[in-house]
Parts: sequence; C-alpha cells; structure tokens
Amino acid sequence: MQISVLFVCLGNICRSPTAEAVFRHLVRQEGLEDKILIDSAGTGDWHVGEPPHHGTRKKLDEMSISYEGLRARQFKAEDVERFTYIIGMDDNNIADMKSIYNRHAAGIERSTRNLDTCLRRFVDFIPGTTYTKVPDPWYTGDFDETYRLISSGCRHLLTLIKQEHGL
Ligand code: 4NP
Repeated sequence: MQISVLFVCLGNICRSPTAEAVFRHLVRQEGLEDKILIDSAGTGDWHVGEPPHHGTRKKLDEMSISYEGLRARQFKAEDVERFTYIIGMDDNNIADMKSIYNRHAAGIERSTRNLDTCLRRFVDFIPGTTYTKVPDPWYTGDFDETYRLISSGCRHLLTLIKQEHGL
C-alpha cells in the first residue's frame, strides 16, 4: 500500500511547504521515496500557483533542502480520501479542512473516514512539546523557530510511520 502524507496550513507558502520539503528530504535520505507520497496544501486560495514565501526559501536554502517544483494549491474535499495522514499546522487549519470537506463532500464519493481522527495536528507528533500550534512566520517573521519545530516534528513523524507500517 502506498503511504501518503499531506501537510496543510493556511496559505501553503510558509509552514506546510516547509514541512513538505523537510519531510521529502528525510524520506529520501532513508531511501523510502517510493513508499511514501508527500504533498502540501493551503485552506486558503490567495497564493495558489506561487512558490514558497521568500523567507521559507531562504531558510531551506540555508539548510540545503530542496523546494524545487513546490507550488501552492488549495486543500480540497477529495484529499480526505487520498491521503493516509492529513496534518494541519494549527487548530484553525483543521477546522477549515472540516468545513471545506463538509461543504463539498456531497459532490464526491462520501468518505467512510472519521474526520476527527484522520485530520491530525502537527505538534501532536512531538512528544513533550509545549507548542499547541506551529507558529506562522507570515505573522511572526521568525522562519528559524518554525523551521526548528517542523524539523523536529518531521523526524518524529517519520519514525512513527516506519513503526506503523513496518518500514
Ligand atoms: P502559511 O502562512 O499558512 O504558513 O502559508 C500564511 C501565508 C499567507 C497568509 C497567511 C498565512 N495570507 O494571509 O496571505
């Protein structure tokens, strides 16, 4: 079975593309790129088609992590059916995903998935963290803090996925 991971934030230009790029990097390092499909999306549509924010690109360049080809897209109801792990960067992202799903699910094959368990929160993958959300550098300007937290979370997430799927 193909394992798939979707990271979701608001604009898909700061937090979720950082997570996508970092997670791709880790997955490639472990030679698991054929087993784990990775993507990201935003609940908003303002930046659709744009590359990551320049602050995100600067930080990823500094860490020698590729973001080649990443372009913002909007989260859609069908994503609920397509991805094994759907991970929001904060509680608003999760609430917005639910509302997008509930508005559009009538037009698609309705899921048997339980939204309350399949939409997960990124910080919940980090044992012992005091963060309740991934801070949004669009507002904080602190791309370093966001990168550190995302890097830690992606490592824990990969360990968990390897355990859960016997990789
Ligand atoms: P992100 O940050 O959700 O981490 O990509 C944001 C990017 C853009 C906006 C808000 C947050 N915006 O309002 O355009």
